Amino acid sequence: MRTFGPKWFKDGSLIGEFSDHLGVAITQQKQAIALHAARVDAELASKAKSEFIANMSHELRTPLNAIIGFSDMLHTRTVTDPEKVHQYSGYIKQAAEHLLALINGILDVSKIQAGKLSVDREPIDIAPIMASCLLIIEAKAREKGITVETSVPQALPRISGDSLRLKQILINLLGNAVKFTPENGRIRIEGSVLQQGYAVLSVTDTGVGMSPAEVETAMRPFGQIDTAFNKRHEGTGLGLPIAYALARLHGGDLRIDSQKGVGTRVSLILPLASDMPAAAEPNIH
Ligand SMILES: Nc1ncnc2c1ncn2[C@@H]1O[C@H](COP(=O)(O)OP(=O)(O)OP(=O)(O)O)[C@@H](O)[C@H]1O
Ligand SMILES: [Mg+2]
Repeated sequence: MRTFGPKWFKDGSLIGEFSDHLGVAITQQKQAIALHAARVDAELASKAKSEFIANMSHELRTPLNAIIGFSDMLHTRTVTDPEKVHQYSGYIKQAAEHLLALINGILDVSKIQAGKLSVDREPIDIAPIMASCLLIIEAKAREKGITVETSVPQALPRISGDSLRLKQILINLLGNAVKFTPENGRIRIEGSVLQQGYAVLSVTDTGVGMSPAEVETAMRPFGQIDTAFNKRHEGTGLGLPIAYALARLHGGDLRIDSQKGVGTRVSLILPLASDMPAAAEPNIH
C-alpha cells in the first residue's frame, strides 16, 4: 500500500505515473490538433482546387461556345452578308485568341501551384525592358488619349531576374493600367532604388480604382471586378495572380494601392543584382 511521505516522493512512483499520464494526454491532444489542422488544410486545398477547376471549365466553355456558334452559322451559310461574315469571323478569331491566352495562363498557374516554375536570376537593365513593354501598349493608350509619363532612370542599378518573366509582369501591369483607365487619363511609370538592395517599379493610373475587397478579388485566379466599365474589357483574370507569384519567385513582391474612382498604383519590388535573396513562396490563393 502506498503512503504519503518522503519515501514515496523519493522513489517517485506516483509522480512518475502522473507524468506518464500527463505526457500521454498531451501527446494525444497534440496529435488530435495536428490531425484537425491537416484536415482543415486538405479541405481548403481541395475546395480551392475544385473552385479553380469549376472556374476554369466555365472560362473555357464560353469562348468555345462562341467559336462553335459563329462557325456553325458561317458553315451552314445561315449568314451570307459579307459584312456579317467579316464580323462573325472576327468574333471567332477573338475567342480563339482568348482561349490561347487562357490556356497559357492556366499552364502558368498550375506550374506555379505545383512548385514547377522557376525563374532565371540574371543581372538585368530594367529601363530597356520597360521601353519594349511600353511599345506594346502605346497604340492602345494613344487610341484612348491616355498620357503615359515615364521616369525610369537609365542609371537604375541592375536587378536580378528573368527578362521574359519580367516582361510578362510589366505587360500585364501596363495593360491593366490602359484597360482600366478611361479616355484622357494618365499613367505614370516610375523606377527607383529602395533601401536594403531592392528596386521598385511602379505603374500609377488615374483609372477606375478598386476597393480593398476588390483588390483581394483581383489577386485571385479569374478574379475580375464586375462593373459596367469592366464588362467592356477583355482578359482572363489570371494576369495579376501570376504577376504576384512571379514577383515572389524573384524574391520580390507586388503591392497594390488603389482607391475606387481615383486610381491604382501597382508596385513591383525586385532584388538588385548585387543582393540576391532566396525566392519566396509564390503563393497563388
Ligand atoms: N489598374 C487597375 N485599375 C482598376 N482595376 C484593375 C486594375 N488592374 C486590375 N484590375 C482589376 O483586377 C482584375 C484582374 O486583373 P488581371 O490582370 O488579373 O486580369 P485581366 O486584366 O482582367 O485579364 P488578363 O490580365 O488575363 O488579360 C481586372 O479584371 C480588373 O477588374
Ligand atoms: Mg491583366
